[in-house]
Amino acid sequence: MQSATAWRSFGLAARRTHGVHGHLPIVTYTRRLGRRTIQHSASEPSNQPPLAFVFDIDGVLIRGPKPLDAAKRALAMLEGANPMGIKIPYVLLTNGGGVGEEIRRKRLTKQLGYELSANQYIQCHTVLRSVVDKYADKPVMVLGGKFADCRYVAESYGFKKAYTSLDVHAWNPAVWPFHELGPMERESTKAVDFSQTPISAIFVFHDPRNWALDIQIMCDIIQGGGIIGGAAGNDRKFHDAVEQKPVELIFCNPDLIWRSDFERPRLGQGAFREAFQAVFKALTGAEYPYTQYGKPTQATYKFAEQMLRDHLREMYGPSKALPQMYVAGDNPESDIAGANAAGWESILVHTGVYDPRQGPPTHQPTQEAVDVEVAVRWAIDRELKRRATIA
Ligand code: G3P
Ligand code: MG
Repeated sequence: MQSATAWRSFGLAARRTHGVHGHLPIVTYTRRLGRRTIQHSASEPSNQPPLAFVFDIDGVLIRGPKPLDAAKRALAMLEGANPMGIKIPYVLLTNGGGVGEEIRRKRLTKQLGYELSANQYIQCHTVLRSVVDKYADKPVMVLGGKFADCRYVAESYGFKKAYTSLDVHAWNPAVWPFHELGPMERESTKAVDFSQTPISAIFVFHDPRNWALDIQIMCDIIQGGGIIGGAAGNDRKFHDAVEQKPVELIFCNPDLIWRSDFERPRLGQGAFREAFQAVFKALTGAEYPYTQYGKPTQATYKFAEQMLRDHLREMYGPSKALPQMYVAGDNPESDIAGANAAGWESILVHTGVYDPRQGPPTHQPTQEAVDVEVAVRWAIDRELKRRATIA
């Protein structure tokens, strides 16, 4: 009874009933912290692992093009090199993107040395698969990434009329006279007459490569009620455009900063959003309303949970409850805030955006760890102890 008292001191009450048909002992934990109740029921496959992981990528598994050594050791533990002797399921959830999931997943498999399946990999714009029906046949502007990469991603999701800011510049260079299309940019464009093509929504898929061009075109689309350079170009119309909101604006990644292989964090898509809103407000007096996806949004964590459930079903067969969820991330604003809001355990690593020398994180994690290997070991030990206390 000793461990039950110990768990009680952590605000956990343990009730024990024995399972039937040789299943694992059934234990119900009720967290007094108001977090989600974790229940294992008799119908759970006994081989269901006690824990699962959601890994952030930049600043946790890789920095720029380079995988972190700790990442390979962490994945080795999850792939079976652990005291439980089982494969522990995990998915990768990044606010990055800009290329097709297949392309990046294969690249990561090479970098990290472990095969990733399709439902183990989620980018910031993957969630758009769940909203594409609304826009499938409508002209939309897709911003960010290199050349037409994000158009191809959008088309792979089902967007049939996805245009880029480079298409707009190719249509009329006067739209932004301070840039000349390079050969590869021109090659990536589609011939479109934007004076006849009402844009219904602007999707910022990934970090734009030309902030100035993209901000100009976003303002043009919104001010023109969807038509670039459209007749609605004067002050009164600016406000009407805002009020009527004819054009929807969707951002896929709110990160103000992120960690690549430079010493200090880099500006992210969230900084681009701030820049756009500052310009739009200077022009019209108000910021433009938008929809935000990406970590820490609930939509993205719900989408990730469903992908993980699909992965679990593939590995262990149908099951209702999720194992104990652990999220390892380097950004308190996105990884830790999102995990806490989802009621999952959150581990803040020190290999990315968050620097402990700068004081406490803006969102309190369940645990901090110097790197992802230490994070995984801590979580496994914790589950082992938990098992030991109930055994
Ligand atoms: O552009 C990607 C960046 O914002 C962060 O990516 O993997 O740390 O969520 P990640
Ligand atoms: Mg990160």
